[in-house]
Amino acid sequence: MFLSSALVSALLAAFVAVSTVRYIYSRYFSRCALPASLPWIGAEDDACFSRARATLRSFWHTRELVFEGYEKYSKKELPFVLPNINTGPEVILPMSQMQWLLKQKETVLDQNEVNRSFLQADYTMLHPKVVTDTVHEDVIRQELTKMLGNYTADVIDEIDYAFKKTWGVNTTEWKEITSYYSMLDIVSRISNRVIVGFPLCRDEDYLANAKEFARWVVVEAAFIAMVPKTLKGIFAPLIRFLDLKYHWKTSKVNDYIQWSIDHSYARNDPSLRTVDIINKRLSVIQFAVIQSSTITLANLILDLAAAPDISVYFAHIRTEVLAELKAAGGQWTKDALARMVCLDSVLRESMRMWGFVSRGVMKQVVAKDGVTLPSGQHLPRGTKVGVHGAPVHRDENIYSDAQVFKPFRFCSNGSENMVDDYSEKVVGKGIPLVTTSSNFMAFSHGRNACPGRFFAAQQLKLVLAYIALNYEIAPIPSRPANLWFINTQGPPLDAKISIRRRVGTV
Ligand code: HEM
Repeated sequence: MFLSSALVSALLAAFVAVSTVRYIYSRYFSRCALPASLPWIGAEDDACFSRARATLRSFWHTRELVFEGYEKYSKKELPFVLPNINTGPEVILPMSQMQWLLKQKETVLDQNEVNRSFLQADYTMLHPKVVTDTVHEDVIRQELTKMLGNYTADVIDEIDYAFKKTWGVNTTEWKEITSYYSMLDIVSRISNRVIVGFPLCRDEDYLANAKEFARWVVVEAAFIAMVPKTLKGIFAPLIRFLDLKYHWKTSKVNDYIQWSIDHSYARNDPSLRTVDIINKRLSVIQFAVIQSSTITLANLILDLAAAPDISVYFAHIRTEVLAELKAAGGQWTKDALARMVCLDSVLRESMRMWGFVSRGVMKQVVAKDGVTLPSGQHLPRGTKVGVHGAPVHRDENIYSDAQVFKPFRFCSNGSENMVDDYSEKVVGKGIPLVTTSSNFMAFSHGRNACPGRFFAAQQLKLVLAYIALNYEIAPIPSRPANLWFINTQGPPLDAKISIRRRVGTV
């Protein structure tokens, strides 16, 4: 008995050791079967350990690597390799190969596989079906987005409730708030007004757990990604226990659940409507809905607070919003909101500068025989290949004064500065926030662009309008820089601003 358990322990230790060594070799030292003609940014000398050093550097310094590679290679029409400590190296294409990238069939290059590995979805998304089927995309496109007009008034009602509760109604004293956490609170309330409806969206315990679930997915995914593949089955369940904890606490009946059930009838598939899977879908959608809009709004209010002309900007927004509201008989209709193009512009400008995922369009080679790039290099199956949005968004040849926050850049009084490919899509006097292009990839671009962006845009525009109408933001001397974690970026979680309710609004 003693011997056999000692043997089992020894075998287990050997298995862990071999898996770890294999993982370290393939992640830090191997070329991952990529052609030698592709340079690795940060490791061009090919010296001993240089790929390992560049890979380690990608943990905190992907920004430098991405921007350096863009200047050094992309602008000279050359592909290069960007190390990624988390999910493995990515082949970055010059922008001229974007059309080639978008045209590839999903049986050759698949974008979902990249998302699956970034989010370690097999472990963090609670149920295998949530990862492999398209119910979320279908429900978002077919139900949620189509009904946008039906719940605009509800969202405004919840925004009013959430801001009064979180930012307060004091018109004389300034109140200091933390941009990220106050937006996390507000976004989770207003999103849940749509996702689970009233009264569950006012249940403080439910909201607290939904917020925590949304916050932990990416952190857990980052840790799980760094566990060798053969050991994930053992360690991932330990790491993702927070996921499960917050999911169990949020499971209750609601509207998104109803839509998912309806959808399963339309698909005639009973396995899509078990209580278990529907509840799991709900937790997963909380992640998509809460975290991305929270970061976007936290970025925005820091940009506004640091903008020298904030009071002029707010006055301009108020003029447009009030004019369009008046034209719509005082109703927050979907059409009125669509005409408030300066809201689109302010949000688009902030997302241009701080879009939270650096990768713009990134796909994984799934064809068994790999794929050959237009520049001739052959990439084996499993390679990640695509473009990053962050350096494009800051390219002076595309956006004049690209490092400066110019809130009305994308509407009538700013657009003349823009060198871009939007001309056909310009609606009224500006560009809708949801319009993606090879120069604006904050929602990605092409057929896998974010399906939730129509819902998000409605919410973000209503929040910005509400802030401009009802609050003042005290100026801050400078915009705190975002922090990069591998290839995502977000505002410092503790960045603070001061706000005050406008006189005459309560
Ligand atoms: C400001 C808010 C948002 C931003 C910036 C954003 C950004 C993105 C990006 C960049 C992707 C592509 C990821 C990739 O290809 O790896 C994506 C995908 C996705 N987003 Fe969003 N998103 C936002 C809001 C939302 C909302 C509110 C929902 C749900 C209602 C949502 C649902 C999804 C889903 C389901 C996908 C995966 C699509 C697919 O696999 O084809 N997103 N989002």
